[in-house]
Formats: sequence, C-alpha cells, structure tokens
Amino acid sequence: MTENNDPGEISRQAAGQQPTHDRPTHDRRTFLGATVGMAIATPAFPLTEPKKQKPADERRPEPGDIIVHRFGERAGQPLAPGEVKLGGDLVNCITKDPQTGVVRDGSRLNGLIVVRFKPEELSAQTIVHAADGGVLAYSSVCNHQGCDLSQLLPDERVFKCYCHYSKFDPRAAGKPKDGPARRKLAVLPLKFDNGLFVAASEFVGRVGFKKRR
Ligand code: FES
Repeated sequence: MTENNDPGEISRQAAGQQPTHDRPTHDRRTFLGATVGMAIATPAFPLTEPKKQKPADERRPEPGDIIVHRFGERAGQPLAPGEVKLGGDLVNCITKDPQTGVVRDGSRLNGLIVVRFKPEELSAQTIVHAADGGVLAYSSVCNHQGCDLSQLLPDERVFKCYCHYSKFDPRAAGKPKDGPARRKLAVLPLKFDNGLFVAASEFVGRVGFKKRR
C-alpha cells in the first residue's frame, strides 16, 4: 500500500469523502452525458425523405446532351452546322438526352441561343467554349430579370434584352455591356462530335436571375 502524502486527500478521507481518484471527474461526466445525449438525438433511420430528382425534361443540360432546335418544324431535331450562319441571326435551341430521347424543354431556363463567329473574333475565355470553329451556345434568359433574349444586333454583334435594354457580348464570354445586367450570361460549352453539336459540360455561370424579395 502506498502512503498518501497529499494533505487535501487525507482531510477528504478523514471527512468520509471518496478519494478523488475514485470519483468520476468532470470530464468523464461530460463525456458520458454527451454520449447518452447523442444516442437519444440520433435516430436509427433518417427522418426526412431523400430529395426527389426533377423530371428529366426540367433538369439542366448535362454533358453529352445533343443540341436540338427548340421551335418550328425542326423542333427536337439536331442542329446542323450549316444552320448557324456566320453573320446570321441566333438560333433558338434546347438540349436532348441521347440515351432517353428526352428533350429538356420542361424549363425555360434550359433555352439556348446559338450563334457563330470567326474564331479570331473570340476572346481567349470564350473560344474554349466554342465548337466547329466559333459556334457558341448561351442561355436565352436575361440574368437581370429573366426576359427572353431574342436578338443579336447586326452591327454591334451583341445580344439585346428589350425589357430594360441590357446588352451582352457573346464574343467576350457573355460580358454585360450596357443596361442594368451585372453578370455574364451563362454559356453552355460545346463540342462537335460525329456531326452533332453536343454539350461539353454543364452551364458555366448561373442561369436565370435572382427574384426580388
Ligand atoms: S430583364 Fe433583361 S434587362 Fe431587365
């Protein structure tokens, strides 16, 4: 038996109290309390249901999606290179899942405006998103308050929104040039694969606009 030289311990023992090494310490009590608390707080199965996925036609374009016409007689048909003319107007498009054939027209935020420029006209930031030389696909929804972009001005070569007159430069990665819009227009990077324009990735940049509260 070892001799106890601690005066505090001797007086605690004389008063009939437990020696300190036999008593649960503060840390031990805290740990035990936390463990019991966790056991009560953590259910054996999740209480919330997993988030439901949106239907395929509402989901944003995915890599590998085919670029197809959005309106008119060719709606749902792949965009052919000759249909996007240098110096011509924009072409309204949307994407289609090649596996299921689902056209992603369930959300207007999936709309695209496709244009062609000479590669040398495009900034370094822009050309990486182009296919077949200088074909680019931008979001058709103005990021100021969500109006549809429907025109490429023939002289300035910019997209113009007629709601509040914002302009976006497609040769400079969708940079806003005029009006109240402050953000670049989202772009869908393209590649040209076996005669088809295909999404090379998801949208770069946020699609749509922020609603005012
Ligand atoms: S919604 Fe396009 S400028 Fe306002």
